[in-house]
Amino acid sequence: MALMIAVSSGSQPTLAQRSGSLEAAQHYAWSNTSLSPDDRADMVIREMTLDEKISLLHGQGMPFGSTGPTESNGGAGYTNSIPRLDIPAIQMADSAYGVTRGAAAGRYSTALPNNLAAASAWDPQAALEYGELIGRELRDQGYSMSLGGGVNLAREPRDGRTFEYQGEDPLLAGTLVGNFVKGVQSEFVIGDLKHYAVNDQESGRNAVNANIDKRVMRETDLRAFEIAMSVAEPGGVMCAYNRVNADYACENSYLLNDVLKRDFHFRGFVLSDWGGTHSTVKASHAGLDMEQPGQIFFGDELKKAVESGEVTQEEVNDHVRRVLRTIFASGLFDHPVVRRVPDVEKGAEIAQQLAEKSIVLLKNDNQVLPIESGDHTIAVIGGHADAGVITGGGSAQVDAPGGTAVPPPQVPANGTLSRFNRQQWLPSSPLRELRAALPNDNVTFDSGEDPGAAAAAAKRADVAIVFAWQWESEGFDLPTLDLAREQNDLIEAVAAANPRTVVVLETGSPATMPWIDKVAAIVEAWYPGIRGGEAIANILTGKVNPTGKLAITFPKSDADLPHPALVLPPPESQMNFGGGGDISARMARAARGLPPFQISYDEGLKVGYKWYDAENKTVLFPFGFGLSYTTYAYSGLTVKSGDGLSVTFTVRNTGKRAGTEIAQVYSGFPAAAGEPPKRLVGWTRVDLEPGEQKTVTVAVDRDRLSVYDEASDSWKLTTGRYDLQVGGSSRNLPLHQEVSMQ
Ligand code: BGC
Repeated sequence: MALMIAVSSGSQPTLAQRSGSLEAAQHYAWSNTSLSPDDRADMVIREMTLDEKISLLHGQGMPFGSTGPTESNGGAGYTNSIPRLDIPAIQMADSAYGVTRGAAAGRYSTALPNNLAAASAWDPQAALEYGELIGRELRDQGYSMSLGGGVNLAREPRDGRTFEYQGEDPLLAGTLVGNFVKGVQSEFVIGDLKHYAVNDQESGRNAVNANIDKRVMRETDLRAFEIAMSVAEPGGVMCAYNRVNADYACENSYLLNDVLKRDFHFRGFVLSDWGGTHSTVKASHAGLDMEQPGQIFFGDELKKAVESGEVTQEEVNDHVRRVLRTIFASGLFDHPVVRRVPDVEKGAEIAQQLAEKSIVLLKNDNQVLPIESGDHTIAVIGGHADAGVITGGGSAQVDAPGGTAVPPPQVPANGTLSRFNRQQWLPSSPLRELRAALPNDNVTFDSGEDPGAAAAAAKRADVAIVFAWQWESEGFDLPTLDLAREQNDLIEAVAAANPRTVVVLETGSPATMPWIDKVAAIVEAWYPGIRGGEAIANILTGKVNPTGKLAITFPKSDADLPHPALVLPPPESQMNFGGGGDISARMARAARGLPPFQISYDEGLKVGYKWYDAENKTVLFPFGFGLSYTTYAYSGLTVKSGDGLSVTFTVRNTGKRAGTEIAQVYSGFPAAAGEPPKRLVGWTRVDLEPGEQKTVTVAVDRDRLSVYDEASDSWKLTTGRYDLQVGGSSRNLPLHQEVSMQ
């Protein structure tokens, strides 16, 4: 086929120039949209010089906010365009719960409820809309790739990034993240899954070696990626900082070549986490396609390796093909990015709806909630509830309209708390919204700084609402699931003064609750986003009936976790991510390799509820748990087996309010399978008017019941009897039926 190559102007076009060049793009043979992304990619590859190929396989630095004379759009990283061939730059921005780092460029984005919050909706459609919003706002701001899609399992709930992930179950997390990425990609933006794999704690993440069995990996951490992959076909997968069974994740041939590219049929490109590339030849052979954010290993060094024959042309072409096919498959080539004003007003509405679906009502004795309007005194206490709601920090930090509502702690001169991880509060005040929702009541506020004064305010009130929070950020873990002592003391003092005490938590992980029996109600609001105050007020006052259910277990104490004490790195293996100094220099140091230290994930398959079930531990609140202002009854289970299972049952709304019940299906396994007591195999959301009942069917594919067999490197169904269990949480499963499978 004859190619018509446009004459290169010689100078690098800006993103905006390329955006307007659709007509020019149509002069290229690979502009033909009826060709497959692979064919289009191959056409480009045939025209490319080695330098052009290499330029697609590494970043150009980490300009964070600045654009300057480069092609950067100010995000976390980018690859240059190739104007001669009209290949666009890939502009990457972190976007876990919204598009990040707007402030430096004088922009802002919608801050959605955090990812673990959103997971509590158990709603694939909501996850899709969440992703669509992020995809839209990325494009509006000139980005073409999302660095979101965190799907690491909450194996260690004190992980400082638990708020960015989607809980402890691979089916739930994988399904939701898959839909999130599908939403992002529907906006012609490249989606990404991260951090592949077993990056389950932040402490020593650049050095740690995660020791984990193949079967365990396949059924837990990798399973979440596999499920997400099957839903979304993401364009990118970010390999993690840590080592897995001795090799760094970004040069781990088992993870990248065998599992991701061969078994999961991944056709996009693998990019390293920032500073997570550690070699040239080994990493290239192992399946790493792109180094980010710089070119220590995949720039000149990769070129030299190709010229010397250590890396073959074929191998380099495979890396390049993956990047190019993704540019075509995502629609980025055919739909160039056009900057627009992000519609953050619409975004805020969506954020509120999602927050209302993700807040979980954990306790509600004597129906203290919802708070009815009329002549009450309501004491709102603590948690900066007069100002706003907290957000999760680190690379996920969103700069939202209104800036931060609570002045951040001062950054010390020696920089132990860097700009990168400073607390930010969104200006969505629960106090303001409660006052608006309850105009005939006297809603008072006490900062909670003095527990004595707070208790006095609580004593004078009909109801006391005390806000508590736990801030999380990339780069460090929570030392404990306990709230800060002052916060627990405040709750104790308020509860002692008023039996009608409601606790509202804003946390990114589970929290322990030494005061649980002393308070009347508990609401987990997570990091609820730009309209968090409104959403909290709507739940507390009953305008919205809560539906959220936990995607993560709340244990009674750290002592009940598989690893009661966090496994911490020795000093020489620490990178001090939160420290001062130049971030690129710190990353380069990490890239040269820090001495490893070991974590053994010897709890194996028993992640989350599977651990507490197997170990017979009582918990504060189990996986899948959440109350509502109505109640539900389950009946009439029938299980039909064919290729998979068809699980049919009836849910009835036995209360006085319309609601949505998240009905869950679990399965126990034949003993020969060697599985934990049960596994989530399906769920459905059921909308019910008061008194209404619906009969629903949940399809359970055979692969949801399969077990990974290491000897044959394949998934197998164990012959025997499976105990299907249905109900409203992992520990409230009134319906059971056994079924034989072979
Ligand atoms: C994080 C990634 C992030 C990248 C770019 C890294 O520190 O681990 O999740 O995408 O930085 O900001």
